[in-house]
Parts: sequence; C-alpha cells; structure tokens
Amino acid sequence: MSITTESELTGMKKASEAVAFTLKEMRNYAQAGMTTKQLDDYGGQILNDLGAKSAPYVTYGFPGWTCISVNNEFCHGIPSDKRILNEGDLINIDVSAELDGFFSDNGGSFVIGTDVNQHQKLVQASKEILQKAIYKIKGGVRISDIGFLMETEAKKRGYKVIKNLTGHGIGRSLHEAPHEIANYRDKFNLTRFKKNSVVAIETFIATTSTIAETLQDGWTMVGNKGGFMAQHEHTIVVTDGQPIILTAMNEIWN
Ligand code: CO
Ligand code: CO
Repeated sequence: MSITTESELTGMKKASEAVAFTLKEMRNYAQAGMTTKQLDDYGGQILNDLGAKSAPYVTYGFPGWTCISVNNEFCHGIPSDKRILNEGDLINIDVSAELDGFFSDNGGSFVIGTDVNQHQKLVQASKEILQKAIYKIKGGVRISDIGFLMETEAKKRGYKVIKNLTGHGIGRSLHEAPHEIANYRDKFNLTRFKKNSVVAIETFIATTSTIAETLQDGWTMVGNKGGFMAQHEHTIVVTDGQPIILTAMNEIWN
C-alpha cells in the first residue's frame, strides 16, 4: 500500500508493533525440549491478546498461527506437537498478522541455545545483508539493484540466495504489489521502490540450495540441494531518505 494519511501510518505502526512484539517474545520463549506447536500457541495467544489475527491463517488457511521452520526446513514450516526443538537447531519464526485492516510481516532465524552445529555465521550473514539492503532503499531505487546487492553480499560470505522466494508489498493485504522483491538481480524487473509505499524486505541466504521446493504437506519448503537457509524480515515504509522500519521492535538485529 501507499501511505497517504496519518491514520494509515498509525494503523501500520500498530499492526507492525503487534507482529514485532510477538516475534520477539517467541524468540525469548523458544528453548530446547519444547515442541514447535507449544511455541506457536504461545505466539498465537500474544497475537490474540493484542487483537491481531494471524495473516497466513486468515489469508491462506495455514495450519498454525505462525510459520516455524527448523533445520532443513527453509520456510512455511507447520507447527507440530511432534517436532521437539534441540540444542543447536537452526529455527526460523515468521510472524505476520492483520490488525484493524492493516497487515504487517516479520521474521528471523536464530539458533536454539548453544551453537553446537555452527549455524551462527549463516544467521549473522542474513542479518547483515538485510541491514545493508534496507538502508539502501529509498524512493526511485530499482528493486533489481537491491537484489543485486543482496546476492553480491551473500556470495562475498560464501553463500547463495534462494531465487524463488521474495519480499513483497504489504499493507491492506499480506502480499501486494510489488510482488517480487528478489534476492538477486532480476533484469526483467524494471520496477522502482516508491516513496510512501510499504514493503516487506526479506533475505533468503542459503548454504547450498538456490531453489525452495514444497514438501508433500503442501506448505513446508526445503532446498533443492538441501543445506540450510536463514531469513530475516522487516516491514518498512519507503521514504526519500532512510526507511521507517515499522517492525524494529522485534530486535532481530540485536
Ligand atoms: Co514476507
Ligand atoms: Co514473513
């Protein structure tokens, strides 16, 4: 959406604070021995208490309140009472929700407990790349130039990017135009970021895969060549200068 009134900005801020606070609380709550269902129910309760509705649930009928993906799962993982978190697991939590007609989206990957499987370097790369990308975005910048920056930064660190997962416009629904904010230079995408528009910027930094594929369950995505992926996501408002990071409260950069 494009922000045209003060009340739209206020609405987006409220929805963003709800998803950011929920993500932060879920990260703090997550620990070894817990199931992903327990973690999801905890997050779902917080959204509910804030008057927010899970966006994947209301938009796509997703079987959970948040997406929780562990280890070889890249994204859209279904919370399960059979999936127990272990020390050193790489986990991604993605929280998106609707509040008073406004949608916001954020996510982050992190390691459960001690980093016994050495995932932290990948997590750190994803955080840094998101930060670099976001601070380069302003009105008039080509979306493909941000994709080029993200892929270049990933390569520098020895990683790949997933080509078929993208950031997106957001606001009055979960996914709006511009629909494809890729992590690589898509030379066919001539679209530019527009001042006052709201977009969800997300990284998809991977160790070995370049394509994400959907499993039989119809939701969970894994890599075409296996390995691991880290994702970090903020919803932002594009300006003439530095963007307004609406989901800053999630503290994914800390
Ligand atoms: Co998103
Ligand atoms: Co998301």
